Amino acid sequence: MIKALRGMKDIEDPRFLKIFDTAREIAENYGYSYIETPILEETSLFKRSVGESSDIVNKEMYQFIDKGGNDVCLRPEGTAGVVRSFIEHKYDRQQTPKRFWYFGPMFRYERPQKGRLREFHQFGIESFGEPSIYEDINIIALAADIFDSLGIDYTLKINSLGCSVCMPEYRNKLVEFLNSHKEELCEDCQRRITQNPIRTLDCKQQSCQEILKDAPKITDNLCENCQKDFETLKKGLENLGISYEVDKNLVRGLDYYTKTTFEFVSTEIGAQSAICGGGRYDRLVEFLGGKSTPGVGFAIGVERILELVKTDEIRDGIYMGAMLDEALPFIQKEAKKLRHNQKVFVETKTKSLKAHLKAADKGGYKKALIVGEEELKEGKFFEKEL
Ligand code: HAM
Repeated sequence: MIKALRGMKDIEDPRFLKIFDTAREIAENYGYSYIETPILEETSLFKRSVGESSDIVNKEMYQFIDKGGNDVCLRPEGTAGVVRSFIEHKYDRQQTPKRFWYFGPMFRYERPQKGRLREFHQFGIESFGEPSIYEDINIIALAADIFDSLGIDYTLKINSLGCSVCMPEYRNKLVEFLNSHKEELCEDCQRRITQNPIRTLDCKQQSCQEILKDAPKITDNLCENCQKDFETLKKGLENLGISYEVDKNLVRGLDYYTKTTFEFVSTEIGAQSAICGGGRYDRLVEFLGGKSTPGVGFAIGVERILELVKTDEIRDGIYMGAMLDEALPFIQKEAKKLRHNQKVFVETKTKSLKAHLKAADKGGYKKALIVGEEELKEGKFFEKEL
């Protein structure tokens, strides 16, 4: 028997579409417009944006050479493709804010476990051209609105990674600290000292975490502007009634971030607890060849929140059933009339009244319309509210 690939799943859960509908409506209400970018992109796009030192690019890419000899890969995340499209369509030349939302599959060759798939879906948003910290507050509020609407509890963690003014100075301080503890760090962190020292801060090894407790923290080393923005961010969230925790080690696994980073986590889903991650990426557009344009965005992991979505037991739609074959054309015609503004299911197998009512109840319909011999003669239905 041919089975789906490891870490890839069929989706039949109606909550998947509920997430899509809810997130889409909220994003549109915030003034975001839909964008769909290709699933396959040039490998270099991700190498240059997500970063060669990141695990995603280093270990997890579905990368191959296509029949034309191009080095391509299945997108591991959505931001890079949207930025590529933004530049390709010359939106960077217009210098007016552009806001996009997207929903689609992403691919990472990770070791599958609960909450960690090789094909998973993200709902994401990307906002371009807004340097103001109020845009960061706006998108965090957007994500919070989505979770609130779906009845999902969360903890919001925030941090700031600083900008091109304060980051290099902080980086030097951190490297000095890491070098003085080099022998005690894990192999990965030893490599990170030269490749990407900031990533040591969220190393999963307990022994590294012990050492890093005393490491200098970026939020204690921000320049005046970044410090001011970080304070405004906190006040702005408080103003909207959104609780948060400052997590000084929240550096995120992708290299493009500057200033704000944030994650929504859930305590109800096990070890893979991040349900949304995002932040600001003010240098990425320029880095990928566009005109310098600030950007900020996030992505929600749809499969991770699927089981957290509360479904109300609301009965919906009409079930129509025939007790004899001759009644089938009649109910099909009536169903066509009723269907223009509601859900109508026609059972094509003839059954007894009792069997139809049982099936309608089990199917979650709110009403059953059944046609037997008598009803057919009179052009009527046996009607039952469920
Ligand atoms: P990310 O943190 O890599 O960020 O992914 C965002 C979310 O996708 C995670 O919080 C998680 O819910 C979900 N996710 C990630 N990997 C998996 C997996 N293997 N299985 C299931 N769910 C997963 C990004 O992708 C950035 N592009 C977010 C962003 C947008 N930053 C700025 N704009």
